[in-house]
Amino acid sequence: MIRKILFASSNEHKLDEMRNLFSSSSWQIISPKEIGIRPLNVLEFGSSYAQNAIAKIEAYQQYTHLPILADDSGIEVKALNGKPGIYSARFGGQFIKNDTQRNEYLLRLLDEVVFYNRTAIFKAVLAIRFHDSETIIREGNVLGHIALESRGMNGFGYDPIFELNNGQTMAELGSQKQEISHRALAVKALLDVL
Ligand code: IMP
Repeated sequence: MIRKILFASSNEHKLDEMRNLFSSSSWQIISPKEIGIRPLNVLEFGSSYAQNAIAKIEAYQQYTHLPILADDSGIEVKALNGKPGIYSARFGGQFIKNDTQRNEYLLRLLDEVVFYNRTAIFKAVLAIRFHDSETIIREGNVLGHIALESRGMNGFGYDPIFELNNGQTMAELGSQKQEISHRALAVKALLDVL
């Protein structure tokens, strides 16, 4: 039997990836739009990825009795003491208008840092809550480096500047991202316990 989960996000890229990652499971990812919920702008005031993911769940909870899944992700750059981390979505402040500008900003900050010292972690934290029951949290991490320049046309967000240990950026991967990404690892960990 296929069971439905509401994905608490208005990010179409994450939604596509989630649908894909759950496609061979017994769970079906449903978007807010599909059940008539308008996109919600959830403020991320938590002090951890998990808290932010739970805030996303709680924003959608009044609209559905379906189990709700949320994802909070970020990139942690060692040379920047782990920044932007949980602030990845807003990194650079209000004058940054899109992902391309955000990536350029991050590359500029690392201008003087040699490749060897540009290590970074891509992190996805997933939370799922069933009606009236406890929340399950799982995470996935991928190690890599911030590339010397932006490369690749696939993916979204920080993908073009996150270089994997095989030398490709996440945005150069295409569908292989769904096998090795931080989000893929977090979904695998979650499916193990669902
Ligand atoms: P949030 O999880 O919606 O708060 O997003 C965190 C930030 O990380 C946003 O700037 C996203 O674009 C970015 N991000 C989240 N997941 C990915 C990913 O899989 N690849 C690249 N960037 C991502």
